Amino acid sequence: MSPARLLLSCLLFKEAFSLSGSFWHITDLHWDPTYKLTDKPDLVCASSGTRPASNPGKFGDYMCDSPWHLINSSMYAMQKILPDPDFIVWTGDDTPHVPNEDLGEEAVVNIIGNLTHLITEVFPDTKVYSALGNHDYHPKSQLPGAPNSIYDQVAVMWQNWLNPESRETFEKGGYYTEKLLNRAGLRMLVLNTNLYYDQNKVTQNMDDPAGQFSWLDQILTEAANNKEKVYIIGHVPPGFFEKKRNKPWFSQKFNKRYLDLIEKHHSVIMGQFFGHHHTDTFRMFYNTKGSPISAMFLSPGVTPWETTLPGVVHGANNPGIRIFEYDTETLLVKDVVTYYLNLTHANAVMERWEKEYRLTESFRVPDASSASMHQVLERISADPCYLQKYYDFNSVSYDLKDCDSVCRADHVCAAREVDFESYEHCLEKEGAVSVHRGLLLLVSSVIVSLMSVYW
Ligand SMILES: *[C@@H]1O[C@H](CO)[C@@H](O)[C@H](O)[C@H]1NC(C)=O
Ligand SMILES: *[C@@H]1O[C@H](CO)[C@@H](O)[C@H](O)[C@H]1NC(C)=O
Ligand SMILES: *[C@@H]1O[C@H](CO)[C@@H](O)[C@H](O)[C@H]1NC(C)=O
Ligand SMILES: [Zn+2]
Ligand SMILES: [Zn+2]
Repeated sequence: MSPARLLLSCLLFKEAFSLSGSFWHITDLHWDPTYKLTDKPDLVCASSGTRPASNPGKFGDYMCDSPWHLINSSMYAMQKILPDPDFIVWTGDDTPHVPNEDLGEEAVVNIIGNLTHLITEVFPDTKVYSALGNHDYHPKSQLPGAPNSIYDQVAVMWQNWLNPESRETFEKGGYYTEKLLNRAGLRMLVLNTNLYYDQNKVTQNMDDPAGQFSWLDQILTEAANNKEKVYIIGHVPPGFFEKKRNKPWFSQKFNKRYLDLIEKHHSVIMGQFFGHHHTDTFRMFYNTKGSPISAMFLSPGVTPWETTLPGVVHGANNPGIRIFEYDTETLLVKDVVTYYLNLTHANAVMERWEKEYRLTESFRVPDASSASMHQVLERISADPCYLQKYYDFNSVSYDLKDCDSVCRADHVCAAREVDFESYEHCLEKEGAVSVHRGLLLLVSSVIVSLMSVYW
């Protein structure tokens, strides 16, 4: 190799490395302060409700939200694995799944404070971008689109993470935006999508709670004008739950509005990072021509808590934490590395946070761009081996049962279609609805014929 070529390749080599950064994404820690070790399964934790917690250990139980020990362990595991991330994305849900009466405003605010304190203690010099979850309010999910004492108190706790303008919009509506790490050309948008959650009674009759949509439209328009690239983070995602058919989170009008904004501004949006599912999955956004325009990453939760949503089977997960590798100039998401704690193993043998998988290796894609994530989805959809791999990762290697054709349709359609109507069409196309429709027709014709006999 000629000296000039050598110099050039060294420069390129350096370039390739200096462009690479990484950040942590953690979500859904759900600390249950009542968790304790006892041989009475009903008394282990309040968050198990009426379900017995029969395998409790120091790190938790699949029926329960996180004991402090698990939360502390996850945070120190982050420190050990990647002590100096560029920043941390934290997408909310700090309190346990218990009735409102068992918490109250003070308890909710204290729990948010405890977790904030722990993150600050373990990562004192790291910038944290933090979004509120639907459990970070009292009463839960009723986050208002107006100033209130909880947004105020949280803004004080997070003051080191918020610049003055951020604090202003946060106190108004629980959302904010800043230049990413103060760098020109890069932007972080932290949304309060709890305002769009269909369980939120106080915002359902509004067109644009807290003015967040028009604000988002304006910020993204300005970002395009200023040639910025942006990340969007939030808690409750649009679209459907992959583990329960026809279960959306946003109410329909808000879901549509969110999709329209992504379609309008996709060219500046380099990634969306959300939580709330507690599972590991992703969502695709397409333009009207069917080309992928954006991908949303739903990161697994730290809490192993088995969901109580009726109809969900095996709805628990192992605790997961996640590193995103990205291009520090373009914000291209280069890779996703998920680490997890095998809860059974941790309780029985020893604490061991291990790498679960690296996206580019497991799904054989060059990066985690929207085009690559589309390729991942195509593989999952077409190849049973990839489907099973995706399915194992979905519960963070907790539920390793076979993903059959019904399971496949639920997961593929949820990932592919965030829009309500398109999701339904997808289920029809994947042959999932016809069976139910057929059954429904059969049942109704039987009823009609019975009625004609008796009336
Ligand atoms: C948290 O974890 C660290 C590191 O393992 C340990 O030194 C510390 O004692 C733990 N704290 C609590 C309260 O468990
Ligand atoms: C949580 O915060 C409350 C109020 O600040 C404090 O009294 C309590 O000791 C904290 N608990 C832990 C485990 O940090
Ligand atoms: C988790 O640990 C248990 C107990 O050691 C083991 O049986 C199980 O196979 C482990 N799961 C995974 C995905 O490694
Ligand atoms: Zn949650
Ligand atoms: Zn949530």
